[in-house]
Parts: sequence; structure tokens; C-alpha cells
Amino acid sequence: MTAPAPSELAFIRFVSVENMMKLIHRTGIEEMMTGLVDYIEEDFRRWELFDKTPRVASHSAEGVIELMPTSDGEVYGFKYVNGHPRNTRAGLQTVTAFGLLARVDTGYPVLLSEMTMLTALRTAATSAMVARHLAPKDAGTMALIGNGAQSEFQAMAMRAVCGVERLRLYDIDRAATEKVLRNLGGLGFDVTACATPEEAIEGAQIITTCTADKQYATILTDNMVGSGVHINAIGGDCPGKTELHPDILKRSDVFVEFPPQTRIEGEIQQMPEDFAVTEMWQVLSGKAPGRTSERQITLFDGVGFAIEDFSALRYVRDRLEDSGLYQNLDIIADPDDPRDLFGMLQRAAGQ
Ligand SMILES: NC(=O)c1ccc[n+]([C@@H]2O[C@H](COP(=O)([O-])OP(=O)(O)OC[C@H]3O[C@@H](n4cnc5c(N)ncnc54)[C@H](O)[C@@H]3O)[C@@H](O)[C@H]2O)c1
Repeated sequence: MTAPAPSELAFIRFVSVENMMKLIHRTGIEEMMTGLVDYIEEDFRRWELFDKTPRVASHSAEGVIELMPTSDGEVYGFKYVNGHPRNTRAGLQTVTAFGLLARVDTGYPVLLSEMTMLTALRTAATSAMVARHLAPKDAGTMALIGNGAQSEFQAMAMRAVCGVERLRLYDIDRAATEKVLRNLGGLGFDVTACATPEEAIEGAQIITTCTADKQYATILTDNMVGSGVHINAIGGDCPGKTELHPDILKRSDVFVEFPPQTRIEGEIQQMPEDFAVTEMWQVLSGKAPGRTSERQITLFDGVGFAIEDFSALRYVRDRLEDSGLYQNLDIIADPDDPRDLFGMLQRAAGQ
């Protein structure tokens, strides 16, 4: 008896890190950022039809491992992601991820993808999508505080979507800033390395904080932040892990992804339960205003929500046909008689 070859249905498309990097290079990173923004915006506009739940987090002293599920009724998706701020000291990344899409009608998976690269792209694309609606007009300068893995992606997305050309960098570890200077050298930015966060935010209309520390940190204090800026705070994304002094939140109009998750994980965990926030999907659907005055401080308390990953996986799925940038993985056991799983196993004996 010979085991049958896997059926068509057994296979799902798998995008490896190698193929994801090829897809990014073939598309062009800024073009991919704008493409991702389009997909994320499209999904934010149909926000109400998605299944939404705060992500499922498993915390430890060292970090967190999270599952981020959602569905639009036709397609289901989830991401596995970790956040371990001390990992870099051991030569490991703070954030790694992979994700999956499945058909809702049959429950069969259709795509498995690396998402460490894709998370950096989708996080930056989300920040830029939000900044396009909230940042002051003609914002050309961004302070980038925290110069780790996410930072160059933030810069590329803010240029592609908002026209940011000038960057002011700060990190407590000078080696991280040197890395960004090296990586962005020759890409056409005007980059200044700064010795303090105060210096970094001088003249910046957009302030991005993407630091990693598993504690209540105060990257920005109230007296540092002038009027008329947009703060893109993405590093505070866990209980007990924040970046801004609460007084800044009191002076700002705060915009969030999904309030039940952000109240647990975002900067607003420092505020009372009824602290007023605006949901970004409402701004994108024209149901709530974005920036309303030049002097207003807008603050995106970004923690990363499952729908952004779903949009990013949809984007990748739609680019795979005829690309050759995937492998077929034999991941679903698919017996000829769907009730004869045991028979399929028996026929494979001795193979
Ligand atoms: N909101 C989201 O959707 C989202 C997505 C991905 C990552 N993140 C978060 O963004 C943060 C950055 O991620 P990463 O992958 O770039 O991490 P990373 O570890 O690669 O980089 C973090 C950098 O922050 C610096 N830093 C720490 N404390 C600082 C301080 N007080 N002042 C200035 N710099 C400081 C570190 O030296 C390091 O260079 C993490 O907290 C991560 O959890 C959020």
C-alpha cells in the first residue's frame, strides 16, 4: 500500500522571510508602505463588520507573547507576536511574529506568513496613515526617539505618506542611533543625531516614540511638548509599559485603535477608565474630526491592533499570484474520504 500524494487542498501558501524581503524589494519599500496604508484604511472604514477582541496576552517577567485574531466574516486571521525588551542584550530581537489567514466558510487556512518584517511595515504604515489625518499640514520634520528595529520603517512610511524629509534621532544607546544613520545614509533624508530627547523634538511637527522598556518610562515630559504637534507613541503597548508623562495626555486629543485593548495596554492605562478618546476608524469614516486647529496636540496612542495585521496579510496574499514568492506547505491532512483520517495514517505506514 502506498500513501497518496497530498491533495491540492493540503497545501497552503507559505511566505518565508526570504520571500517577504524579495516582495518588499520588488515592490519598493515606499510603494509597499503606501499599498499597505490603502489596505489598512479600507479595513478601518469597514471596522464595524469585523470581529474584535483585545489581544490575548501571556505575560512573564521578561516580556509578553500575544495572539491577535480577527475576522471580516469571509476571511479569518491571526498573528503570533512577542515583545521582549531585554532580548536585544542577548542578541535576540524584541519583536518577532508570524501570521495566518483562513477561509471562514470552510475553516481551511490559505496563507501562512512571516510577520517580523511585515509587522515593522504595518506598524509604520499605520502610524503614517494616522499622521496623514492628524499631523499639522506640511509636517516635514520628525523626531524619532528610540532607534531600534522599528525606527527606519517609521521614517520610510512617514516620508512616503506624509512627506517627512527631516529626521531628528535620539536613543539612550548611541550605537542604535549610529545604526539608523548608517542605514538611512544615502536615502535622501536630512538626518540629525541628537544628544537628548529635548534636542530631538526641537522644530519637529511629528514626534515618534518607539522605545522598548518593560516599565513605566517617561520619554517625554509635559514641559517638553509645545502646541501644534502630532505625537506618534507606539512603544508603550503593554500593561506597565508606557512612554509619556500623564500630563501630556491631559493636554492632548488622544486617538486610538480599539479602546478596550488600548485602555489595558496604551498610554491611557495611566488615565481613568472614562478618559475621552477618539477611535481612528471614526476619523477615517468621516464620523469624527481629526485635527481641528493648528495649536492642538494630537496624540496617536498606538498599540497595534489585529485588523492592521489582517490588512497586511491580505495585501501580501493579493500580491502572490504569479510572483513565485511562496512555497506550498503540506499543512492540512486531507484524506480522500474526509472521515477516514485513520485510514490515511494506516496507508502511510512504512513510508
Ligand atoms: N504599536 C505597535 O503596533 C508596535 C509594533 C511593533 C513594536 N512596538 C513596540 O515598539 C517598541 C520598539 O520596538 P523595536 O522592535 O524597535 O525595539 P528595539 O528593542 O529594537 O528598539 C528599542 C530602542 O529603544 C531604545 N530605548 C529604550 N529606552 C529608551 C529611552 N528611555 N530613551 C530613548 N531610547 C530608549 C533602546 O536603546 C532601543 O534602541 C517596543 O516597545 C515594541 O514593543 C509597537
